Amino acid sequence: MAEFTAAPETVGASSDWSGNVLAPLSEKELENQKFTSTDRIQFYSDHAKNYDQDMAKYSFTGPDVAADALHQVLNGEYDAKILDVGCGTGRVAELLLKLGPYSNIDGLEAAEGMLEVARQKGLYKNTMCQYLCLGSGLEQGTYDAIVSSGTFVAGHMKSDCLIELCNATKSGGYIVVTMRHEHLETVDEYKQNMRPTINQLTSENKWKVVKDQRFPNWCYGKDGQGIDGHLFVFHKD
Ligand SMILES: C[S@@+](CC[C@H](N)C(=O)[O-])C[C@H]1O[C@@H](n2cnc3c(N)ncnc32)[C@H](O)[C@@H]1O
Repeated sequence: MAEFTAAPETVGASSDWSGNVLAPLSEKELENQKFTSTDRIQFYSDHAKNYDQDMAKYSFTGPDVAADALHQVLNGEYDAKILDVGCGTGRVAELLLKLGPYSNIDGLEAAEGMLEVARQKGLYKNTMCQYLCLGSGLEQGTYDAIVSSGTFVAGHMKSDCLIELCNATKSGGYIVVTMRHEHLETVDEYKQNMRPTINQLTSENKWKVVKDQRFPNWCYGKDGQGIDGHLFVFHKD
């Protein structure tokens, strides 16, 4: 896996992403602040035009690691049908297209403002403005690969979305997820449910875990310290 070590130019973006979106808030903190998924999705839409610039300031490498891992497992299948879940402004697809001539990428995103920025880049075959949750109706066995970067964050996608991602993937396909490592420990929902969900899908022979690894420099905090990320790759049986 490629290592990403670029230090941020400056940290402290114009919109306070660290407080509003990137901080590892626990569910309890979220509750106290009455900070709901709807607030977060609205925040993304409102700040979509600054998103790419702000993420560059934090040297956010989640999309790079996801694109790189997906490219490796697809092994030259450039016509693979791919779904980028929580695609935001299309960063994963942009990076993937630098790695190879992928021709069949769809983007799903809950925040219309983010999706509009992605659409303007012309990266995706189809785009869907949809809030993904368990039972949200993704057609089963449709995609050769599903990728999702930075979507398992407090107030974003819940652990059971992994079941939805698995169901929507074809047999023999792959699911690639990148997230901030500490969220596995500090966000109550993930602490309680993420590994049990992964283990349940494994024990039911729905998928095999190909990669489950911590990596450095997911992004940089305000103090300039690198913050670790986590990469999961699953292979659907
Ligand atoms: C940190 S951004 C990551 C965007 C992009 N994947 C990237 O790596 O740059 C998280 C994105 O996930 C979207 N999102 C969060 N929860 C979602 C859900 N349940 N369904 C669809 N999109 C969601 C947000 O609107 C936001 O655009």
